Amino acid sequence: MILVTGGAGFIGANFVLNWLAQSNEAVINLDVLSYAGNLENLASLAGDERHRFVQGDIGDFTLVTSLLTEHHPRAIINFAAESHVDRSIHGPEDFIRTNIVGTFRLLEAVRTYWPNLLGEPKGNFRFLHVSTDEVYGSLAKEEPAFTEAHRYEPNSPYSASKAASDHLVRAYHHTYGLPVLTTNCSNNYGPYHFPEKLIPLMIVNALAGKPLPVYGDGQQIRDWLYVKDHCSAICRVLEAGTVGEVYNIGGWNEMPNIDIVHAVCALLDEFCTRIDGESYREQISYVADRPGHDRRYAMDASKIERELNWKPAETFETGLRKTVQWYLDNQNWVAHVQSGAYREWVKTNYERRTA
Ligand code: NAD
Ligand code: DAU
Repeated sequence: MILVTGGAGFIGANFVLNWLAQSNEAVINLDVLSYAGNLENLASLAGDERHRFVQGDIGDFTLVTSLLTEHHPRAIINFAAESHVDRSIHGPEDFIRTNIVGTFRLLEAVRTYWPNLLGEPKGNFRFLHVSTDEVYGSLAKEEPAFTEAHRYEPNSPYSASKAASDHLVRAYHHTYGLPVLTTNCSNNYGPYHFPEKLIPLMIVNALAGKPLPVYGDGQQIRDWLYVKDHCSAICRVLEAGTVGEVYNIGGWNEMPNIDIVHAVCALLDEFCTRIDGESYREQISYVADRPGHDRRYAMDASKIERELNWKPAETFETGLRKTVQWYLDNQNWVAHVQSGAYREWVKTNYERRTA
């Protein structure tokens, strides 16, 4: 089996669902269920014995050690993190606690466990750390995309905390020989994306008749990748990546934020015309910029393509179409997130089970 951390969040849940759709290898899913963790994302796995959910913190050394010694996973895929840049600006402490101290404690548990393994279980064990393009900082318009050799220059408390975690992972390989892999990925979008992030927020606000808040001049560039393509890249790195290496993952799809918002509005105009017949673009509202806002990210994903033969399956057009359709089809999910009802659902569901 494998141990996934943060598997009730956006990317982690997509990863667990995809994994169990393609393999019978069981998953232990360790997630503390912060505001971003939502077990409704995994509702389709109810009763599936291949999925074991454990509510807990990656920073809980004793808990992680007991999971390792009880279940002997062949790999850990570490998604668990505080992930929202704006929240890190308002309150960095949770980011330090989970992204830095949590990753450190997780690594400590592995450092205690892994050296005592023997033979194949030891040789095959992997610790895959899921990270971000934001650790590399911001690019000027004419600069080439980030390669794995680009220097680290994180600009927000979020990216600084992810950079610190990447450095710890690297150091545990260099110093203790831990068999680690690190992936740095660009902006994801797709199903189960928490509606505090750009694309789901725009969809949800548009449908609710609310303003679509675009930071600054809307010309900041991000490199967008459909979440299932990120998941397939992680599977490929786990399967064939070289221990100690870093792999950049991206969609070769740089777009200014304002173009993203227009693309979302165009799809909503097509699928779900506004009652007054006007475009959802009418709701766009420019607001004050994010402090320290990075201007441009772009990933050079040629290493993973060349060495591991991975490429995204979706174009931005196909991925965004699926995403907008998913939000239209899953308005209950959105309503539960917005009302906080998903947290109640978790409580009710699991308290009943314990009883
Ligand atoms: P998310 O915020 O949607 O989910 C994070 C999950 O981690 C939640 O389920 C949360 O409950 C859990 N968690 C938080 N603190 C924890 C702790 N201390 N112990 C255990 N679980 C904890 O985040 P996401 O967007 O799914 O991102 C997942 C990972 O991918 C993060 O490491 C993030 O830095 C990285 N990443 C995200 C993107 C993106 O575009 N979203 C891109 C590149 C990399
Ligand atoms: O690049 C990878 C990163 O992408 C991940 O590491 C992070 O976990 C993930 O949250 C994401 O960070 P961003 O800050 O790029 O994502 P977000 O969706 O918050 O914002 C995308 C862009 O849109 C960014 O330039 C800010 C802008 N924005 C965002 C929001 C929420 C707006 O203009 N208006 C908004 O309301």
